[in-house]
Amino acid sequence: MDKTSRLYQDIEPELLITREQIAARVKELGAQITKDYEGRKLTCLSILKGSILFFADMIREIDLPLTIDFMQTSSYGEDTKSSGVVRILKDLDHSIARRDVLIIEDIIDSGLTLSYLKRVLADRGASSIKIVTLLDKPEGRRVELNAEYVGFEIPKAFVVGYGLDYAEVYRNLPDIGILKPCIYE
Ligand code: IMP
Ligand code: MG
Repeated sequence: MDKTSRLYQDIEPELLITREQIAARVKELGAQITKDYEGRKLTCLSILKGSILFFADMIREIDLPLTIDFMQTSSYGEDTKSSGVVRILKDLDHSIARRDVLIIEDIIDSGLTLSYLKRVLADRGASSIKIVTLLDKPEGRRVELNAEYVGFEIPKAFVVGYGLDYAEVYRNLPDIGILKPCIYE
């Protein structure tokens, strides 16, 4: 998709993270994860829907035998702030007992979603649970939660693209940009 396309009019002209920067960082993370998970029973877990593009690119940079699974939690609805309420809309298809689970997430803000999910998964007997997130907004944190692998730390702004949405739109933007406040105010 070209940067003159329709969707780019709704984000700030200066892109926050370009597709080239994303690709380079995903490669680096993949090399690190490949090294760290050598010889383990890796299951990569995609948190729908925001992580789908990152997930698809990320697993192709992990040079190990692995399985994948999907889970969906409740989102913000049409708001840009977390409600603090987490609901599981779609659960895993396979058991994660004795598996090394790597949660692949698009962004951590308050940390509420993942701290809840980590507890749920730990109760199911996973050998280990770690998180790789493409984006991290540390200023938004309301509970203590850290990802083992972070693509980029970003400021508090509301961002869209590369899987991230506002009211379900903009996921197909190939780059990540700050949504113009006039779109949601
Ligand atoms: P948390 O529970 O507050 O950490 O929220 C994480 C989820 O909120 C992410 O998986 C996203 O779906 C959504 N989210 C948080 N910040 C943004 C943003 O800037 N743009 C789009 N979605 C976001
Ligand atoms: Mg998400």
